[in-house]
Amino acid sequence: MTDRDLDETARAILRANDRGGYTIPTGGLYPFQWNWDSAFAAWGFSTFDPGRGWDELDTLFAAQWVTGMVPHIIFHKEDAGYFPGADVWATGATPPSSGISQPPVAAILARRMHEATGDTERLRALYPKLLAWHRWWRDWRCPNGVACVTHPWESGRDNCPDWDLGMARVDTSDVGEYTRRDTGHVDASMRPGKEDYDRYIAIVQFGRACGWDQETILRDGPFLMGDPAITFILIRANRDLAAIARVLGEDDSSPLRWADDLEAALPWLWSDALQAYVARDVATGSFASAISSGAALGLLAGVENAAMEARLARIWDSVRYGIPSNDPAADSFDPRRYWRGPTWPVVNALIAIGLQSAGRVEEERRLRRETAELIRQGGFFEYFDPLDGTACGGDNFTWTAAIWLAWANGKD
Ligand code: DGY
Repeated sequence: MTDRDLDETARAILRANDRGGYTIPTGGLYPFQWNWDSAFAAWGFSTFDPGRGWDELDTLFAAQWVTGMVPHIIFHKEDAGYFPGADVWATGATPPSSGISQPPVAAILARRMHEATGDTERLRALYPKLLAWHRWWRDWRCPNGVACVTHPWESGRDNCPDWDLGMARVDTSDVGEYTRRDTGHVDASMRPGKEDYDRYIAIVQFGRACGWDQETILRDGPFLMGDPAITFILIRANRDLAAIARVLGEDDSSPLRWADDLEAALPWLWSDALQAYVARDVATGSFASAISSGAALGLLAGVENAAMEARLARIWDSVRYGIPSNDPAADSFDPRRYWRGPTWPVVNALIAIGLQSAGRVEEERRLRRETAELIRQGGFFEYFDPLDGTACGGDNFTWTAAIWLAWANGKD
């Protein structure tokens, strides 16, 4: 297949996954609208149908809670093929949604969409919603400065090694019986394990039992960990939101202040042992024991640290394709199991945005070349083995098609 054929296929995947105003990540495995998947879908659509790209973000933000939170799943239509569905979350939201959020990449991608399309009015309509969401992160997810997550699903990097410590403390004794659906769609060896799922469900049950009351979740919830990835994403997203505000002539310095505050709090995530920013358990103060792609997203935020960069360069050089989600030298590394080793085209695309901004041309080109190679060889899968390039997870994946169109198919 030529790159031109791949362009066609990528556009066809976005069209096929379009459910009318929103795009599912892939049929079967993920039959609803997911938050950060949708932001990438919007970016992909913007390369050939800008109006449809903005519509995607509008549909996502139409599900925003009055608190400013933008949920991680919006259950537009019932589908028994996914667990846990709207009935398990029981948030009472309209449209039905989950009770947690997901990485706030929308402002980063909306800024790029605006630069490419010049659709200032579509951006203007989104701006207050983005601002409210970022304020929600500041008010409800930064209890000690950095961005924290209350559920591994909120991080978007569900079973990465970052969460092992916090997950080990989650009590699963009252979870009860349930049936997973994900392993009916994808090889179980590429998905989180049963112990992970018990804990995921236990955390959802806590949220549901307290009526998704954020004070209770932060104070007494079973899981709360500082997340380097979301901290870095939010630093970048706040600075991009400030740039959006300037374009729109809005006079609000909050996003810049929020970005500076996040950056000032970063030392709390610094592990001397690993010489990197890593996840940290709020309750115990313990650090995660491996360097994940969360650290690599420091490049997206423009956070410079020579010691960490040396570690990241070694990790990148130890695989063949892209930035792995876990350090291949770590005991927890598993090259095909979801976020415990595979390389994710979308994460590579975010890191590349940072490399582009920093003028790091050669590294950006290498990352793009390696990501494009995976797609040329394996197709539009969800993630890939970083050692041998085996395609993993769901096929015909929206965000992989989107980043192909918006970034990876760059020709040089
Ligand atoms: C899943 O169900 O695997 C999702 O990652 C949750 O958001």
